[in-house]
Amino acid sequence: MMNSETIPKHIAIIMDGNGRWAKEKKLPRIEGHRAGAESVRAVVRACGELGVEYLTLYAFSSENWSRPKAEVNALMTLLKFFLKKEVEELNKNNVQLLAIGALEELPESVQKELQIAFEKTAKNTGLKLILALNYGSRREIVDSVRKIATEVEGNRLSLSSIDEDLISSYLYTADYPDPELLIRTSGEKRISNFLLWQISYAEIVVMDLYWPEFRKVHLQEAITEFQNRQRRFGGVDAISSSD
Ligand code: FPP
Repeated sequence: MMNSETIPKHIAIIMDGNGRWAKEKKLPRIEGHRAGAESVRAVVRACGELGVEYLTLYAFSSENWSRPKAEVNALMTLLKFFLKKEVEELNKNNVQLLAIGALEELPESVQKELQIAFEKTAKNTGLKLILALNYGSRREIVDSVRKIATEVEGNRLSLSSIDEDLISSYLYTADYPDPELLIRTSGEKRISNFLLWQISYAEIVVMDLYWPEFRKVHLQEAITEFQNRQRRFGGVDAISSSD
């Protein structure tokens, strides 16, 4: 059973399997993404109900541009549609919308819709929903190294002040705690360039269902699995350390 006392503060999800779900149903891939957007709604609602503070969703990776143009366009349209249609619902549920990634390279119309949604939800104090859009973790690290190097070069930062916390503060996720739980659907055991630095100590739960099938019960299942694992951070657990 899930323990409501130790719900992770920050959950990150790699939403995988939209295409395979559609293929099994003999539907076009975009129908899989559309059904996936329904799961996004369900999981946002569930996180709010369970008291999760941060939810980061891998919605579009920097590698996803290499998909057929029609699929990329359809994903962008779906995203715009989602932002437009859901913003009232997000407000009703006190959800603040945020995003990480190279947002400046997204189509103008998507950027515009994002900006509107950020502004409209800026004052909400409940769940922080962070969409990873045109996101790639290695690129995020490269960007932060460049920024740090520029500061060092300009003598605004000393070499000795570079430590783990400083690096974290130069990532796109500077304002958020690291996720304690990473969920990936559709059975693939890969990280796919997602939050490489931030998931150093996260529990990874790979689930054997397609993203469009994901609902609150599956989130609860993943949280239960997280709670059942002993999180030792490379140290020793309470029992053996008392020997
Ligand atoms: C992975 O499935 C999913 C994506 C690349 C996109 C995720 C997008 C959504 C869930 C749609 C809406 C998002 C929001 C935030 C409203 P895949 O296409 O890689 O599936 P496959 O591996 O089975 O082909």
